[in-house]
Amino acid sequence: VSFEPRPPDSRSAAIALDAADPLAFARERFDLPPGLIYLDGNSLGAKTSSVSLDDAVNRQWGRDLITSWNANAWWTLPRRIGDRIGALVGAASGQVMCGDSTTVQLFQALTAAARLRPERRVLITDGANFPTDQYVADSVGRLLGLDVQRTSPIDPLPEDVGVVAFSTVDYRTGERWNDEAITDAAHEAGAVIVWDVSHAVGALPVELDRIGADLAVGCSYKYLNGGPGAPAWIYVAARHQPWVDLPLTGWHGHVDPFGLTSTYTPAAGIERARIGTPPVLSMLALEGALEIWRDVSLADVRAKSLALTDLAIARADAAGLETVTPRGHDRRGSQVALRLSRAYEVCQALIRRGIIGDFRAPDLLRLGFAPLYLRHTDVWDAMDELVHLVETESLAAAPRPEGVVT
Ligand SMILES: Cc1ncc(COP(=O)(O)O)c(C=O)c1O
Repeated sequence: VSFEPRPPDSRSAAIALDAADPLAFARERFDLPPGLIYLDGNSLGAKTSSVSLDDAVNRQWGRDLITSWNANAWWTLPRRIGDRIGALVGAASGQVMCGDSTTVQLFQALTAAARLRPERRVLITDGANFPTDQYVADSVGRLLGLDVQRTSPIDPLPEDVGVVAFSTVDYRTGERWNDEAITDAAHEAGAVIVWDVSHAVGALPVELDRIGADLAVGCSYKYLNGGPGAPAWIYVAARHQPWVDLPLTGWHGHVDPFGLTSTYTPAAGIERARIGTPPVLSMLALEGALEIWRDVSLADVRAKSLALTDLAIARADAAGLETVTPRGHDRRGSQVALRLSRAYEVCQALIRRGIIGDFRAPDLLRLGFAPLYLRHTDVWDAMDELVHLVETESLAAAPRPEGVVT
């Protein structure tokens, strides 16, 4: 990979890196508004030009109607997309099923994981995990009578641990955990592990099969660019599939969905991870978005992600800003979080200048670097604006909206 080890120290050096970027072609595959610098692809990815719902709405739904389940292969969509996502997370075919939200898939995975260790009483989550991961862990704990404990992924595991559930990359700080070592530790303790790879899939190579993950979940609307509310996915390692007891026993996961029997018998293999009727239009959008990965090397994606985040950190350092994201390459995802005294106001001021990042309470400005559509010059220019803002503007406290905080 042709990236230099040191970040560029001038805009012209950034231009030179863009000219040599082996992923430069990928940006053409996105419909980004001109002039906008989008640093929030870790929250909602950009729209790819390969997504169009015209055919789905007007021909498949409009004309072919219900025959589309077979005629337009709607029935096999969840599995088809699952395999394509599987290829991006190091999962051999037949272990990933697409559908529903990350939250729903977390409930599926945590409950199924606990049922794989019925004699164990402790479920571990990270107190810094994304809220939905913690809330679902608590609920599964209440349902199954488990003791839910919060530890950091590097803390020793307690006795009686049955399930360990962590995220590959911390959503707030961008810290990346050593998923291989942590999976080994969970197995040595006799537990099964559930990884949430929402902040890693599409941003860095994930190797679920190789590290021996038991179950995993992830979303599709961040670095996979599947669109708002894009269906999530679940990974169930092949070795668990004959026994895994998933709690949401919807009719699509039945061995004979159209037999319409009154009791549930799960389908063989990953088909049992289907739930009910999938959101077909969202899945077709996601399938379109996944087209762009056909000739993209995840090693190139990772190298560029590190180069972009290195550049942002170097510019933040030079301006005396506090970076909370780890500096070691092996400990970093694809985002940089800066601690600022007026992080919310800075974020809003940047948005007014056409640079979209996001704010995470109480004091973090979170900048996501999606390597497929960001250039080194975008990072250079965004950091110029940010430094200028912090150094020259006295930003008055701004009222925060209720509801969605971007
Ligand atoms: C690690 C993690 N898990 C889950 C979610 C969201 O879950 P859902 O897709 O159900 O809203 C997020 C959202 O940012 C996340 O960062």
